[in-house]
Amino acid sequence: MALIKTIGVLTSGGDAPGMNAALRAVTRSAIFNGLRVKAIYRGFRGLLTGEIAEFKTQNVSNIIQQGGTVIKTARCKEFQTPEGRRQAYERIKKEGIDAMVVIGGDGTLTGARIFASEFNFPIVGVPCTIDNDIYGTDSTVGYDTALNTILDAVDKIRDTASSHERLFFIEVMGRDAGFLALNGAIASGAEAAIIPETTTEVDQLAEFVKSGFRKSKNSSIVLVAESEVTGGAMHYADRVKNEYPDYDVRVVILGHVQRGGSPSAYDRILASRMGNAAVEALIDGQRNIMMGIDDDQIVAVPLSRAIKNDKPLDRELLKVLRTLSI
Ligand code: F6P
Repeated sequence: MALIKTIGVLTSGGDAPGMNAALRAVTRSAIFNGLRVKAIYRGFRGLLTGEIAEFKTQNVSNIIQQGGTVIKTARCKEFQTPEGRRQAYERIKKEGIDAMVVIGGDGTLTGARIFASEFNFPIVGVPCTIDNDIYGTDSTVGYDTALNTILDAVDKIRDTASSHERLFFIEVMGRDAGFLALNGAIASGAEAAIIPETTTEVDQLAEFVKSGFRKSKNSSIVLVAESEVTGGAMHYADRVKNEYPDYDVRVVILGHVQRGGSPSAYDRILASRMGNAAVEALIDGQRNIMMGIDDDQIVAVPLSRAIKNDKPLDRELLKVLRTLSI
């Protein structure tokens, strides 16, 4: 196996708090181990446009606490074509990049896996997405911060919900995964979560609303995961408005506010550990893996497993939510 002298690093897909901490960890770990680092701007697109710069330790100073990504991110359509990936590979050769660490979510890791197998190129992934929807890791970088952002918002909405005795449907992100909605509901003391992993019949929802709203509570908060399966918060609000016109219903879509902000301590530590492990894995000769966290240990997960499998949602959490929201 060829010796790795230069590592390329990029952030791609939807940004997540902690991407900068991961970039810092990759850069510093590589330099610590005597390697050169080239930062690729705007995700895989930077490989096509040549927006690549050598990074020294000071390039990543003072970024661990910053949300977003200082090397920008993008979703690159060209990289999804064989021709685009061929061009990217040519650029990598020209730049003398021997291996890459890619920081991003599901789409990023999928692109990385295809590229790695087409060109037999060493890649290690660091799972960074607020959605937490990647198999093989208990948590993804950014998820904890997004969850805390949701709590902050729900706590505030609860004040007005309770003053006006209203029912709020709050839509959170997750791209077809209910981790943010379900854990956000438990942590904020919400009455219910509507998630794509379980089908919620409208009658069940209405029953819940009726009993919760009328008997013991004067306000209710329901977290809804964005998804075509759930139909989103608007869909449920409309149904309640039609079927229970007495209820004072409001909708809040939290949107991209969930993607911003300074990463939590948990996300900074996770990003630092994963970024460091990613570089060490490449030096050890590992490839086509993603770093994960399992029982507080950093583990290597084959990219093929991480991408192919859907991350299961712990059904016990639903029980906890139902029990505690009486
Ligand atoms: O995957 C992260 C995520 O924030 C999803 O939760 C959401 O569906 C999507 O990205 C939004 O993407 P965009 O920023 O392109 O609107």
